[in-house]
Amino acid sequence: MSKPIYILNGPDLNLLGEREPEIYGTDTLDSIRQQVEAHATDAGHKVDFRQTNGEGDLIDWVQEAREKASGVIINAGAYTHTSVALLDALLTLDIPVIEVHLSNPFKREEFRHHSYVSPAATGLICGLGAQGYLRAIDALIELFNNS
Ligand code: DQA
Repeated sequence: MSKPIYILNGPDLNLLGEREPEIYGTDTLDSIRQQVEAHATDAGHKVDFRQTNGEGDLIDWVQEAREKASGVIINAGAYTHTSVALLDALLTLDIPVIEVHLSNPFKREEFRHHSYVSPAATGLICGLGAQGYLRAIDALIELFNNS
């Protein structure tokens, strides 16, 4: 069996469903996890879906992905806009990385327009809500099949 796709979620995403639903939608993170697991399983892939509020945890998980993951989907939440350390960790990966955001940060405050994740990402999906995670799985599978 091939290695799992790591799906890494950063701070405050544990509050999805309650947190600013007009921006992030009403799906909880657990419901997104279930949709993503079902979608990946149907396509013959395993996922390892995680959330943390800690910057260090995200970096540890990215480092772990170097050996243990086939690809990474990352929604780093607000660390997207602040974390050089996360960028440095992501730059060590030689597997595909898809950056996901539920909202479209480019339609929002200016400080959300810059991403420290993007320079290390193969691709970026934003503004599609929970569906973005499913499209990110599809994109990774396409990349695996073409490599
Ligand atoms: C987010 C966008 C970020 O700007 C924000 O800090 C988040 C969520 C998104 O999924 O739309 O926490 O990453």
